[in-house]
Amino acid sequence: MKLKNITLAIIVGSGLAFIASCSAGGDNPGTEYAPNMYHSFAYEPLSQQEDKPNTINENGMNMRLPAKNTIARGQADYAKYNLAKTAEAYESASSLVNTIKATNYNVAEGKRLYNINCTPCHGEDGLGNGTIVADGKFPKVPSYADRLPTINDGKAFYSIKYGKNLMGAYGTVLSPNQIWQVIHYINTFKTPATDASPSAVVDSTVKN
Ligand code: HEC
Repeated sequence: MKLKNITLAIIVGSGLAFIASCSAGGDNPGTEYAPNMYHSFAYEPLSQQEDKPNTINENGMNMRLPAKNTIARGQADYAKYNLAKTAEAYESASSLVNTIKATNYNVAEGKRLYNINCTPCHGEDGLGNGTIVADGKFPKVPSYADRLPTINDGKAFYSIKYGKNLMGAYGTVLSPNQIWQVIHYINTFKTPATDASPSAVVDSTVKN
């Protein structure tokens, strides 16, 4: 009986020790059953194993740098609007024109993006009375009806992409096309909300 207990204790003890030795911790993923399930034999561009440097690419990385002077698919606009961050660049941005049409789709998409990103300050109706302004957490924000007539779409684009004074930059949040969509939407605040320009809508079927 006693011997049986000791044997049992040894079996349980070594079982626990075995389990503990497999457990993960820190950088150690623990014992992996069938590691090929986790770590590809092939070089995967989006994952890098520390103990498996890539023997073909420079500096052992699976991910390669893009070829010089190339632009990722669908991102040509980013290069086109890569403007300097100076007062002169802001002034010359007035020559930029909205490249997309004010279709129902684009205005609605602009409204969606505006409501997500801009309402805390500018307010849903563009009066500059968003929640953080009303709470006294942020100083006064100009109303679009006052401000937009003093600038143009190009300057609005520049300010949204790069920010202006207390307003942060949205160039990393919104693509150039999305900024133009938002501009179509905020332009509806130039006129009183009651006749918010359905006339600007030229075609409800075209997407861009
Ligand atoms: C944190 C508060 C805040 C948020 C969020 C914010 N703005 Fe502003 N915005 C301001 C302030 C403050 C100004 C006035 C800046 C100045 O002229 O000093 C301003 C000015 C502007 C102007 C006029 C720029 C000019 O050149 O005179 C436009 C257009 C504008 N915002 C659009 C937007 C859009 C679109 C968004 C969302 C993508 C947005 N803002 C988000 C605070 C904000």
